[in-house]
Amino acid sequence: MPHLKANPFDTSRLEQALAESQTMTFVATSFGNKETLIGVEHCGEEFLLQLKPDENGVLLKYDKVTRPLKVALLKEAIALVAQELDLEILSSNIAFSSSKAALSSQYFKKIEAFEGMVYPKEKLCVEVGFGSGRHLLYQAKKNPDTLYIGLEIHTPSAQQVLGQIELQQLDNIWVVNYDARLFLEMLPSNKCEQIFVHFPVPWDKKPHRRVISPSFIEESMRVLKKDGQLELRTDSDAYFWYALETFFASLKTEVTVYKNKALEVTSKYEARWLRQEKDIYEVHVRTLLESPPKTEVIDFNFNEVKYTDKLKECLPQKAVIYEGYFVHFERIYTISKHALLIKCAFGSFDRPEHKYLLLDAQSCRYFVSPPVKTSVNFQAHQALKALLMPSEGEDYV
Ligand SMILES: C[S@@+](CC[C@H](N)C(=O)[O-])C[C@H]1O[C@@H](n2cnc3c(N)ncnc32)[C@H](O)[C@@H]1O
Repeated sequence: MPHLKANPFDTSRLEQALAESQTMTFVATSFGNKETLIGVEHCGEEFLLQLKPDENGVLLKYDKVTRPLKVALLKEAIALVAQELDLEILSSNIAFSSSKAALSSQYFKKIEAFEGMVYPKEKLCVEVGFGSGRHLLYQAKKNPDTLYIGLEIHTPSAQQVLGQIELQQLDNIWVVNYDARLFLEMLPSNKCEQIFVHFPVPWDKKPHRRVISPSFIEESMRVLKKDGQLELRTDSDAYFWYALETFFASLKTEVTVYKNKALEVTSKYEARWLRQEKDIYEVHVRTLLESPPKTEVIDFNFNEVKYTDKLKECLPQKAVIYEGYFVHFERIYTISKHALLIKCAFGSFDRPEHKYLLLDAQSCRYFVSPPVKTSVNFQAHQALKALLMPSEGEDYV
């Protein structure tokens, strides 16, 4: 990732440089000036750069939480800030192009894009954890009138399948590099024909990490059309029985079980189990009812939240755990007498959000953008909001 090392410099230059800058929007320092964050606006995108003391000088680099997708943008911003601060550069890698292929294909969709999404095809199917993508690619080729959304948390697999989509000139697959357990919330009700869950990781020792759960089934049944179906394939006895029990608890569904039913395409995992002569279980869960439309309104505003003098002392220093989510104010940076930048983590334990809050005497907002609109993020947002508005005499520390 782009970075630059420079000789130590007089940090009092920062204020002057900020006043004259075309790129920097604010400078925020952590307690004891150990770390400085520079707010940057470049080519219409907002993000942060970190300025840290290094063995022989300073390191100017990207910030993980707000990193823009385009590496070129980061490199340009680092070069501009270095120029504006008049840094004496010792070494940098900003002249070279990144060797890692970015998830930049038109078929790669960020989860945020699903808010109010217009779908280009009438029919929609979802595959959870597509791995090598054999099944996903096969289905998409066979059914060009259907859009396939492939969900995969393993980035190299997502990248590899994006390459295959381009190579095979398919226009009906979208790849989403996000946790399937949270993604389904982004889909409208009664939208999907099929959801495939083939050979999910059984997580025998950490069952809370399993894809199949009561809430996943509930969401699946909501997004599936009436008569739509979820298809699970697994080689694990324990997972099969666990899933069956979970499916049976779901109302108004029809559950069908198959053993050693062959598919037209064999996935990489399935091929391995077949070589080992293992039994393969398949379960279909069919929705028998239409679901009501999704009506929950999620609004990530902070309305009355603003900077107060006692805020720094009042915020809890440790993570606050609620049922199913948490909030943690990780670090506070000072921008000016009445403005703070707060780094926080919050939301679900499996897929927490990492964000900054930009807070001054007038208002508060997420920097750079609000979290993904899931109900667990909304619950955590409300907890953040409450903690940021301590009432008289309240002390959370
Ligand atoms: C055992 S592999 C099976 C891959 C493929 N379905 C097959 O049959 O070859 C499970 C895949 O699910 C992905 N995965 C695990 N949990 C996931 C989640 N919560 N959301 C999306 N993908 C997930 C893993 O990264 C992995 O690629």
